[in-house]
Amino acid sequence: MQQNSEQSISAKYAVIGNPIAHSKSPEIHQLFADQTGENISYEKILGEKYNFPYSANKFFDADGQGLNVTLPFKLEAFNFVDQLTDFAKHAGAVNTIIRQDNGDYLGTNTDGIGLLRDLKKTLRLQLRDKKILIIGAGGATQGIVEPLLNEKPAGLTIANRTLHKAETIAKHFKKMGDIQSCSLNQIPEQAYDLILHATSAALQNHELELPAVIIGTQTCCYDLLYSDTATPFMQWAKKHGATQIVDGFGMLLEQAAESFYLWRGKRPDTTMAQNYLRPKSLT
Ligand code: ATR
Repeated sequence: MQQNSEQSISAKYAVIGNPIAHSKSPEIHQLFADQTGENISYEKILGEKYNFPYSANKFFDADGQGLNVTLPFKLEAFNFVDQLTDFAKHAGAVNTIIRQDNGDYLGTNTDGIGLLRDLKKTLRLQLRDKKILIIGAGGATQGIVEPLLNEKPAGLTIANRTLHKAETIAKHFKKMGDIQSCSLNQIPEQAYDLILHATSAALQNHELELPAVIIGTQTCCYDLLYSDTATPFMQWAKKHGATQIVDGFGMLLEQAAESFYLWRGKRPDTTMAQNYLRPKSLT
């Protein structure tokens, strides 16, 4: 009897962010749980702005097992955890928290793995010797620089509204590969093979002004954001003739699958999940 009642108790997970209403993570993790036969619950938490520890502690005190962390808390989550994986250490940002058996919180970052899996497996992009541009220098960018440099691109440029943030990231990762920084209005005027958009400008309905010459005949434009309709960056890319235009839904699925694997030890089928969950308007 005891065993049966224990089996029926689902393990508790959540995603925390602010705003959070748009998050698709509960649907994704529920699908992963169905696929793998795991019994979990997964909720959305609207985190207290400037008080991440309060919201995180409240969740874990109520028996939470693991948290996904999204905008704007990835840097606060980095400071909250007791231990960090190398991915999280290098990224300086945490998007997944695992409560360990001894009660310690382990922080890791699955964004980079998620992006790379989507670029390579789903989109079949090879990054060796390619020119990459990242627009934005926040927590999302910090999470993807190391895995991108590991692919040995010809160069990686980070452009940001606030120049010093791009410079800080470039300095931090400079031992790992060819990395440059610039401000948004001084992006070197050349065509890039891959342009990754990683700002939160669209969340404030602010349109970025980017030079059209950065799009060449073979450019893939990838927005780390996802939305049920084309994002402003995707619309801009289309207007300027990009050949491949993608939103961050594949990355979202892949980073979620990695978190799920770390929590439950089982790998979900992301191809099936992509077909099942991808917003119909973007297929
Ligand atoms: P995340 O964790 O998602 O990266 P973040 O750390 O808050 O979020 O970073 C947001 C990024 O979006 C930053 O690069 C930010 O530029 P600044 O460093 O200059 O703040 C960028 N961003 C936000 N609003 C923007 C806007 N209106 N125009 C241009 N860039 C913007």
